[in-house]
Amino acid sequence: MKKQSIICVVGTRPEAIKMAPVVLALRKENDFDVKILATGQHAAMLDQALNHFDLSADLNLNIMKDSQSLDYITSAVITGAGEYFDKVNPNAILVHGDTTTTFASSLAAFYRQIPVGHVEAGLRSGNMELPFPEEMNRVLTDKIAKWGFAPTELAKQNLLKDGMPFENIVVTGNTVIDALFYTIRNTKEPESADLLKLPKNAPFVLVTAHRRESWGHPLEDICEALTVLLEKYPELWMLIPMHKNPTVRSVIKKHLGNKEQVVLCDPLDYPDFVWAMNSSLFILSDSGGVQEEASAIKKPVLILRDVTERPEAIEHGSGILVGIKKNKILLHATDLLNNKERIAEIEHKCDNHPFGDGTASIKIAKSLRKYFSND
Ligand code: UD1
Ligand code: UDP
Repeated sequence: MKKQSIICVVGTRPEAIKMAPVVLALRKENDFDVKILATGQHAAMLDQALNHFDLSADLNLNIMKDSQSLDYITSAVITGAGEYFDKVNPNAILVHGDTTTTFASSLAAFYRQIPVGHVEAGLRSGNMELPFPEEMNRVLTDKIAKWGFAPTELAKQNLLKDGMPFENIVVTGNTVIDALFYTIRNTKEPESADLLKLPKNAPFVLVTAHRRESWGHPLEDICEALTVLLEKYPELWMLIPMHKNPTVRSVIKKHLGNKEQVVLCDPLDYPDFVWAMNSSLFILSDSGGVQEEASAIKKPVLILRDVTERPEAIEHGSGILVGIKKNKILLHATDLLNNKERIAEIEHKCDNHPFGDGTASIKIAKSLRKYFSND
């Protein structure tokens, strides 16, 4: 087979973490010339994630601005990615997930009739406003994509319903599980000084929140619930690696900045974050990736959202959808803190997690190889 040129596009932290194993798997095969295009929708957080996998971008568009608008990201990515696609003229591009980088770079490829492979295709919350704008980004990207690499059977069914041809869909598992296993294999001890601020063996919960639809009142509510928990459980610690977004950080700092048992820190390197997930009592998060990772390490995660596009995590038992109202968050968190056996119970019943066995990237590479060999 003739060597095929593939561009893998990444823009934000989760795309880097979840695309990295795909790049590594494709580069293991001699059949592909793989380039990484970083849009730089995230600056520090993207580099931080790529560094962990010893990867660097072949081109970084460096588009990030403070408090960037969706219009700005979309237009800057279409223009920048389009120019790079014209220069490299790839046989295909791969995008991941549901960010504005994902959708806008897919559109730039479509305008050039370059086939798009969508990694983590077929996720649906069923509500275009939740998460916003990710649900629309997913639907539009799947419409553009030639291949849908679906993490689960449910995602495959969603793609079929939306008209993607059966033969273009491959159920692979989620590449985040590949990244997680790679990281567990290659990490010894956590390195961040922030983690040392937690007293040894102190019970702590891990918290992350960043979603656009939670900005403002919902995030205030989440922080108030955390404040009440700290008052109610004086022995409890909280580790909160804050997203770099100033809109999110200012609210978290206002509520929790001077609390004794709270470690507020910058985003952790991925291995340190994996350590934190593993070592916590449980997690509170509105993150997509964290729901998947928590299921694989059997850690309860209270999902700070009204809907999730990952219902598999809830069926599995590791994910508990609690919403963004203060009282609901408190109810679920106190249930776990008052009944530690509930945590053990959840961990115990979470045997077969739904997001794959850590070979998703190999399956993607094989499927592309098969396609191009028959071409
Ligand atoms: C983006 C994605 C979201 C994804 C999330 C992962 C969109 C519309 N949103 O949301 O789907 O879940 O990333 O984290 O695609 N910033 C920095 N340094 C960084 C990263 C961000 O300073 O390394 C700040 C900048 O001020 C930037 C702001 O955060 O303008 C928001 O970044 P943006 O990518 O627009 O939105 P996120 O909320 O990060
Ligand atoms: N993560 C990380 N360091 C942190 C917080 C999160 O490496 O301090 C990882 C986490 O393990 C997951 C990904 O970042 O793989 C999730 O990113 P984020 O929550 O920003 O995006 P989402 O998954 O919601 O799109």
